[in-house]
Amino acid sequence: MGKLAINGGKPVRTRPFPRYNTIGKEEKKAVNRVLSSGILSRFLGCWDKDFYGGKEIQALEYEWAKYFRVKHAIAVNSCTSGLYCAVGAVGVEPGQEIIVSPYTMSASATAALIFNAVPVFADIEEDYFCIDPESIEKKITSRTKAIIIVDIFGLPYNADAINKIAKKRGIFVIEDAAQAPGALYKNRFAGTLGDIGVYSLNYHKHIHCGEGGIVVANNDRLAERVRLIRNHAESVVEDKKVTDLANMIGFNFRMTEIEAAIARSQLRKLKKLLRERQENCDYFARHISDIPALKVPKVRPGCTHAYYAYPIKFNENIAGISRKRFVEAVSAELVPVKSGLVMNLGYAKPLYLQPMYQKKIAYGSSGCPFKKPWYDGNINYRKGICPVTERMYEKELFSHELIKPSMAKKDLDDVIKAFHKAWQHRDEL
Ligand SMILES: Cc1ncc(COP(=O)(O)O)c(C=O)c1O
Repeated sequence: MGKLAINGGKPVRTRPFPRYNTIGKEEKKAVNRVLSSGILSRFLGCWDKDFYGGKEIQALEYEWAKYFRVKHAIAVNSCTSGLYCAVGAVGVEPGQEIIVSPYTMSASATAALIFNAVPVFADIEEDYFCIDPESIEKKITSRTKAIIIVDIFGLPYNADAINKIAKKRGIFVIEDAAQAPGALYKNRFAGTLGDIGVYSLNYHKHIHCGEGGIVVANNDRLAERVRLIRNHAESVVEDKKVTDLANMIGFNFRMTEIEAAIARSQLRKLKKLLRERQENCDYFARHISDIPALKVPKVRPGCTHAYYAYPIKFNENIAGISRKRFVEAVSAELVPVKSGLVMNLGYAKPLYLQPMYQKKIAYGSSGCPFKKPWYDGNINYRKGICPVTERMYEKELFSHELIKPSMAKKDLDDVIKAFHKAWQHRDEL
């Protein structure tokens, strides 16, 4: 295969990969429909029929709930804001704890802090990278109010085990399904497995409307509290005759009619886009399974995987070189991916290692909400608290996005070729 590109040889690919673009004539038509109506948003932040938003919002919510077989779907302007609504809705009190995975995008844990609760990080599963039920059990205290689980990379969490723990202890489960729309757990959709689920419609997700999110729940009361927090609860509760005022501090987390119209068209494409992603991943897995240092993602029994990204475990002992060197060599073969965005070392840094947790500075500068008088526990964010997460981040895991539906077989073949070339020439690295 010739000399490695990283050592001055000819790269496998210099042509750009096809851009992942799910926006087509259906979305253009949807946007024009809204523009022609002249109504770009119909929300009112008071107790009025427009409290629930306009035609497109309500149609999106109806269609989303039907698709995902859940009673309520509530459109918001991001998954982040949806997570904030969810935490507020379950009635979290300042000083309580929320158990969360450290191996995720920052918003999964920030959602706890917004209501002055303290994130407690539990470790992840060695095989699936989702939060580990055994680790959760060790972290539960009398202050634990909720668990925020993340269907990381697109694989549903261990719902039977975690829901059982939560039920026994009277703890809410909030499911961050940003990366897993359409994935299944025993024939139920990711996002609908806990008490409240949240999806993302930002531009790098499976389907998108620019920025957006959807909250889902089967419980009427929780769903209505989410709607209140989405839309200026404090100005609505009196006329709506809401008596439980806890966390009825409202935001403006409203989605516009244009985004809702785009999201409706995108939802109709989800099934096909997901199938193509799964087929690409199967093809990729089949063709790199002969590289002994690589472990392709396992799919939890009874589940399907949505493959937001493709996580691979790298065994340095078998390879005789570091993960970093191997990934650098593969990336050098694929000139268009050199930016490092689509080929990612370690995924996210464990969240507790971020400055906010290390210094315990969030609201103001005196340690709120991590310290007394706001919190009477002794929270530990030291390095070493989640060893599996740290090992994945520092040594073992890398992920890439070169499995998106835009990739044709010949594009996948170039990626596979780059992996084999780096492997065959590893003693030159
Ligand atoms: C697991 C997870 N949670 C939450 C978010 C936040 O999503 P949004 O950008 O819609 O707020 C993301 C986005 O990347 C994510 O991957």
